[in-house]
Amino acid sequence: MNNRVYLNNGWEFSENYSEEMTTVSFDAKNLTSVRLPHTCKELPFHYFDESLYQMVSLYRKEFKAPKEWQDKCILLTLEGVAHESEVFFNGEKIGEHHCGYTAFTIDLSGKIKCGEDNVLAVKVDSRECNNIPPFGYVIDYMTYGGIYRDVYLEIKNPSYIKDIFLKSDLTKLPTKTLLAEVEIHNPKPEFSIVQYIREKNAGEYMLLGTKSLDLESNTTKLGHKVNDITLWSPENPTLYEIKTQLVKGEEILDEVIHSFGFRKAEFQKDGFYLNGKKYKIRGLNRHQSYPYVGYAMPKSMQVMDADVLKKELGLNAVRTSHYPQSHDFLNRCDEIGLLVFTEIPGWQHIGDEKWQEQAVINTEDMVKQYRNHTSIILWGVRINESQDNDAFYEKTNEAARRLDPTRPTAGVRAHKKSSLLEDVYTYNDFSHDGKASGCEPKKNVTSNMEKAYFISEYNGHMYPTKSFDWEEHRMEHAIRHANVLNAVAGYEDIAGSFGWCMADYNTHKDFGSGDRICYHGVLDMFRNPKMAADIYTCQQEETVHLSISSTMDIGEHPGCNRGNTWIFTNADSVKMYKNDRFIKEYSKSAKEYENLLHGPILIDDYIGNAIKEGENFAKKQAEEITYALNATALHGLSALPKKVIWIAIKMMLVYHMKPTQAVALYNKYIGDWGGTSTVYKFEAIKEGKVVKTVIKQPMTTVHLKANVSHTELCEDTTYDVAAVRITARDEFGNVLPFYQEPMVLETEGPIEILGSHIIALKGGMGGVYVKTTGMDGNAVLIIKDAQGIQQKVEFSIKKNGCNEL
Ligand code: GAL
Repeated sequence: MNNRVYLNNGWEFSENYSEEMTTVSFDAKNLTSVRLPHTCKELPFHYFDESLYQMVSLYRKEFKAPKEWQDKCILLTLEGVAHESEVFFNGEKIGEHHCGYTAFTIDLSGKIKCGEDNVLAVKVDSRECNNIPPFGYVIDYMTYGGIYRDVYLEIKNPSYIKDIFLKSDLTKLPTKTLLAEVEIHNPKPEFSIVQYIREKNAGEYMLLGTKSLDLESNTTKLGHKVNDITLWSPENPTLYEIKTQLVKGEEILDEVIHSFGFRKAEFQKDGFYLNGKKYKIRGLNRHQSYPYVGYAMPKSMQVMDADVLKKELGLNAVRTSHYPQSHDFLNRCDEIGLLVFTEIPGWQHIGDEKWQEQAVINTEDMVKQYRNHTSIILWGVRINESQDNDAFYEKTNEAARRLDPTRPTAGVRAHKKSSLLEDVYTYNDFSHDGKASGCEPKKNVTSNMEKAYFISEYNGHMYPTKSFDWEEHRMEHAIRHANVLNAVAGYEDIAGSFGWCMADYNTHKDFGSGDRICYHGVLDMFRNPKMAADIYTCQQEETVHLSISSTMDIGEHPGCNRGNTWIFTNADSVKMYKNDRFIKEYSKSAKEYENLLHGPILIDDYIGNAIKEGENFAKKQAEEITYALNATALHGLSALPKKVIWIAIKMMLVYHMKPTQAVALYNKYIGDWGGTSTVYKFEAIKEGKVVKTVIKQPMTTVHLKANVSHTELCEDTTYDVAAVRITARDEFGNVLPFYQEPMVLETEGPIEILGSHIIALKGGMGGVYVKTTGMDGNAVLIIKDAQGIQQKVEFSIKKNGCNEL
C-alpha cells in the first residue's frame, strides 16, 4: 500500500519573497523552475561570502489533486527546509517550522481541492539572524538554505497509523521480543492492528500477531516473541521488515513497513557493548555538506557517504555533527551496519528562553523522527560544546528519555568535569598536538567514573591539512590520527572516538583557512582520501590496504633528508625492494602503535645488504656504514644520533675513509641521483601470498582516473546525482600530489554538471557531480585537462516513474 506521492518536481523559485507570491492568483511565470532537493544559492567551491545564501526566498508549486482523494486524509511532509519556514496552501497560511534539520507534517484535509488546482507556497528564511538553533553566535560550518530534502504527500484513510515505535527486547536471551507502540489517528473500537515480519527483501511475511486498539491510551502496545532471528551488528547488519496494518475486519485501512534490526546496545562504565560483545567505537564526524550545493543532495549521495565511511574507511561509527541528517543517510547506516551518534542542532551557543524552547522541540522531533533507525545508539541532547545549563538540559534529557527509554543520552562537551545529566560523558579531546600523548585518560575528564565515556572529536583544527600540502605535512596529519587511535585503543575504559572529521567543509569567515574551507577532513570536499584516510583504511580486515607515506622523491624534503617514511598496511608483512634488490621485510613491531592491530610501520632501511655485497668493505665496516647512512636518511645531518658521529670518526681513523666517499655512498644508496631511475617496490604479504603491490618510480606520463559512484542513474522520486572523483596518477596508479591542472568538463546527453565547468585538481585530486535532467537515455561526461589528456565517463539514465505530482 504505497500511499506516498512525491512533490519534488515542478517548483517555481524566487530569491526574493513577497506576500503576493503566496496567493493563488500570483503569476509565477517569471520565477525559476527548480527541482528538490534545492539549494537557494549555488555557491563557488571556495572564496565566497556566506551572506550569499542568507535570504528570504519563496518556493511555489501548483498541482492538481485527483478527485479520488475527496474523502481521504492528506498529509504534507517537508523533510528539510533550511532554516525557518512558513507554509501557505491555496493562499492561506497553514503551518510553520523553526528548524532546518527536522521534518514537519501538516494535515491538508479539508483544505485541499480535489479534482482542482491547488497552490502550495513555502516562505523559506535562510538568514542566520533567526532566534533558533544553531544561530546566535559564530558557527564553524555553513548552514546554507532552501528546501533541501524531499517533500511528499501521504494519502490516508480518515483513520491511519500516525506513528510507530519499534524496539527489541533482548534482556532475557535467548528469548527475543519485538515490541511495538502504535499510535492511531482517529481510532475506533472495531479496529485492530496486525503485524508481520520477514527478512528484508526476502521471502513471505509471517504473521506476528494481532491486537485490538487500546482506546484508553494514546498508543497500543504490542509484543511478539521472535526467537528465530539474527541479531544486527556492524559485521552482519541483518534487517527485517516489520509490516504494520490497521484493519477493520477484512479491510486494511493503512499499512506501513519499517526496516528494523534486533540488537542490544549498551554503554557501560568500561565501554560500549553490542549484543554483549565489547566494541571500540572508531568513527568520524560527518557534515552533510557538498561543494556548490551545500546540503541539497539526493539519496545516492547520502548513501555514498555512508558507504565511504564504512566500506572505504573501514569505520564502525559516525557522529552526525551537529544536527540530524537525511533519512537516506541513516537508512544506509542501518543497512550496512554503521553505528550512529546523532544530536540536536547547535554549536557552542545557548540562546534565550525562546531559543531553548525550540531546542527542546528539536530534541522531541529528532527522537520521534529517528528512533526506528537501528543504527542510532545514542542521542546527543546538548548543544555541541556549550556550557553547563542544568535547567535547560534537564528538559532535553527528559524529552529524549520520555520518547525513547531504550537509548542513552549524551551531549558533547569541550570542558572537563561538567555537570553530567546524561548517561554518557562525551568530550572533544584536542590535547594531542603531535607531541603530547594521543588523548587524556578518562579520569582526567569525566565527572562520573561510573558512567561510560568516549571522545567525540580529536585533531581537526589542531592540524588543518590540505590535499595539496607538502608531503611531510600530510604525513604528520596522518600520524596524528594514528597517535590518537593508538592512545584510545590503549584505554580499556574509553568506549572509542570520533575524529574530526570525515571531509573538508565550507565554513564561515571566522574559521578555516580564509577561503571559507575548513581543511580538517581525512577526505577532501569531493570525498577523495588524503593520507590520513589510510590510517583508518588500515584498521579493517575486509580489503587489503597498502600505501607508503612518501612518493620517495627526496627533493620534497628539507635538506633532501628523507625523514620518516611510513608503511600503512593491514597485511601480515610488507617486503621492500629497491631496483629489484630485496631490502627488508617489515611487519608490525611491538613498540610502535602497540595498541593498534595495524599501526603505521617506519621504514628504517634503504640499503639492506647492498653495501655488504656491492662494495669492497669489511663485514663490520659495511654494517656500520649501512647503519650510518640509514640513520642519516631518517634524521638528517643536523640531528644525527651520537652513534653515527662515532661511526664517522671510526671510518676516518680506522678505515681511512674520506668524507667525500661517505657523500658518494649516500648519493648512491639513499639519494637515488643520476643514472637510471630508482624503483621502489613494496609487496603486501598475507598468509604467505603477495596480495598487493605498490611501485614508486619517477613518473613519466599522467593518467586521469575517474572513480564514479554509479553509472546507471535513475530518475525516481527526484533527480539523481553521480559523484565522479577525479585523480591524476602516474603509470603505477600513484596519485600525483602536486598536479593542480585545470580541467574542462563537457557533457553529452541528458545530464548536467553541478557547479563550474572549469575546475582545477588540487593535490592531484578533484571531482565533479553530474545530475540527471528529467530525461532518460545515455549520456557522457568528458574531462579534458591542460595537457590534452581526456577521460570519458558513460552514463545510462532510466526513469523509474514513482508516484508524483
Ligand atoms: C570543535 C567543534 C567542531 C569543529 C572542530 C574543529 O570544537 O565542535 O564543530 O569546529 O572543533 O576542530
